[in-house]
Amino acid sequence: MSGGSADRHDAPTAPGARDGGERAVAVPDAAVPDAAVPADRAERERAVGDQSGASPVTGTRPGHGPVTGTPHIAAGPGDFAPLVLMPGDPRRARRIAETFLADARLVTDVRGVLGYTGTHRGEPLSVLASGMGIPSVSIYATELFRHYGVRRIVRVGTAGALPLTVAVRDVVIASAAHTDSSISRVLVDGVSLSHTPSYGLLRAAANAAGQQGEAAVHIGPVFTSDHFYLDRPALFDALERRGTLAVEMEAAGLYAVAATEGGEALAVLTASDHLRTEEALSAAERETCFDRAVRIAAAALLGDVRISP
Ligand code: HPA
Repeated sequence: MSGGSADRHDAPTAPGARDGGERAVAVPDAAVPDAAVPADRAERERAVGDQSGASPVTGTRPGHGPVTGTPHIAAGPGDFAPLVLMPGDPRRARRIAETFLADARLVTDVRGVLGYTGTHRGEPLSVLASGMGIPSVSIYATELFRHYGVRRIVRVGTAGALPLTVAVRDVVIASAAHTDSSISRVLVDGVSLSHTPSYGLLRAAANAAGQQGEAAVHIGPVFTSDHFYLDRPALFDALERRGTLAVEMEAAGLYAVAATEGGEALAVLTASDHLRTEEALSAAERETCFDRAVRIAAAALLGDVRISP
């Protein structure tokens, strides 16, 4: 396993009792009580104290009682499981909680970025949306690894397929993430960093994917773009010639944060559209295909090669 210096962090309090199985649950829409969410960023930063600290700090705000959280997550110590699924879209987070978790409860909803914790096959598992792009995913991944004792995050998202060998609906597991973002250059002076997943997660996902009969699963590099509406066909040609399988907007940021924070990360993507053929999945089909990637991702998180049909 890469990273793995979990001892840099406070041990998380394991959420929830193990219940031995998953079932669909109605996930409450309930918001975190107002008193738990500082009204502005300065107050929140005071509430959480030292940002380099190891755990979410509980503090008090005059007139508002106890406050817990980080600048972007209103959850207390132990509210997140060490294993986290991370879709981009908050509604997908809710859907994953409803369909993959037992006893899911809402643990944060700051800015509408929904996070839930429950169990999957008896193991505590959380889901938190990342929003779109490297800046957004970097914020949530950093706060989870640094303050909530999270050890593994698997992004489950969509991507644009690049070569014709990857079809819409296929799954792409990102064994590397090229990027045009400054994230490669700003972390270590004079070095352009490579962004790679945890080998253990990658291997577990590859094993789990081997049991998925119906869809092709590809493992290879993706391009994490800072620009959704990038109009540079020559760039895509050059990336395709170098084996790049798909284009998306978060994997490199997640991998960079995991490397920095001593965590493990992986991206399991569904090709929702094709950059060459311009085929695109309907909204309904996106959800069906997406479930396959979530099953692979959950199996990888649990370090388990068995997946349900
Ligand atoms: N570009 C970037 N991100 C994406 C795309 C794309 O074409 N498709 C799905 N996510």
